[in-house]
Amino acid sequence: MSLRLGDAAPNFKAKTTVGEIDFYEYLGDSWGILFSHPADFTPVCTTELGKTALLNGEFAKRNVKVLALSVDPLDKHKSWINDINETQQCDVNFPIIADEDKTVANLYGMIHPNASETFTVRSLFVIGPDKKIKLTITYPASTGRNFHEVLRVIDSLQLTANYSVATPADWKDGEDVIVVPAVKTEDIPAKFPKGHKVIKPYLRTTPQPNK
Ligand code: BEZ
Repeated sequence: MSLRLGDAAPNFKAKTTVGEIDFYEYLGDSWGILFSHPADFTPVCTTELGKTALLNGEFAKRNVKVLALSVDPLDKHKSWINDINETQQCDVNFPIIADEDKTVANLYGMIHPNASETFTVRSLFVIGPDKKIKLTITYPASTGRNFHEVLRVIDSLQLTANYSVATPADWKDGEDVIVVPAVKTEDIPAKFPKGHKVIKPYLRTTPQPNK
């Protein structure tokens, strides 16, 4: 059974490029991203890991710890990191799991046998401080991820975890948000004193409350 939103993220211990990691200990009270790659020394993965490293400050600002995975061995990961740093002008300073026996890949359903029997697809899990799965995205090997979209969703997840709001299509941090249907229109002014608009009885917006 695949992992679904709201499920507990399974804990594991794994060999990584920065030593053995216990996943829950690594996350601590932070948010987390666990994402898999098909293989080392492949072009799309090289750009993805480089982009992740370049966005290090953005992840840190959001209190997000990043952990990558592929089913290649540790010495291969370490040698590949040199290539990533050289070609993407970055410093890969987050751990990459060497999941040779596919323990973590199987735990998280990262192998999709009809796509590849042997390699992980591009799975991505966002995990909340409560260790629950908040987002899953799966890309095929041939399509690199949009990491700005990943950051955008994290902004939405963190905002909606703390306020009775939802974010509309294509929302970006700083834009107006939707008041959730559970809040009665007459209760909006007290909850959202920055103002609100009633476009339809079921569609009410307010300026982003934490800005
Ligand atoms: C890549 O990461 O470049 C890649 C991996 C597997 C298939 C196609 C592309």
